[in-house]
Amino acid sequence: MSHKILVLNGPNLNLLGTREKSIYGADTLETIVYDLRAYGAERAVEISAFQSNSEGSLIDAVHAARGSVDGIVFNAGAYTHYSIALRDAIAGVQLPVVEVHISNVHARETFRHKSVLAPVCLGVIAGFGRNSYFLGIDALLRHFNQ
Ligand code: DQA
Repeated sequence: MSHKILVLNGPNLNLLGTREKSIYGADTLETIVYDLRAYGAERAVEISAFQSNSEGSLIDAVHAARGSVDGIVFNAGAYTHYSIALRDAIAGVQLPVVEVHISNVHARETFRHKSVLAPVCLGVIAGFGRNSYFLGIDALLRHFNQ
């Protein structure tokens, strides 16, 4: 495997498959991660995955990623919109991070339009359903190869 990518998921994303299916789709996080690992394997990428509902655990995961993976695909859920602590963690590890969202946050409530993480991320992918995660992998691979 030539690259390692961490797929990191924040609060409530463990409920995928049962939570607001019209917005987030019917697939569970387990299924998405399974498919991401297969997608990675076809591209010589080793995918690791972690989900937590707790801000501190996500910060710890970002810190631990330094030196163990080449980049992070991060759906921080609602923390996206207000966690300065997560933003500082991302800025602190100097790893490429792609912020992803299943839903098109810009087509939803105004409180979802603001991301405090985006300024310290490589870029943002939102609105493509589960494909946002796969596009996040693609974005990192293109970044690594340029
Ligand atoms: C989300 C969008 C966030 O606003 C929301 O709080 C989530 C999921 C998405 O993937 O679309 O939990 O990050």
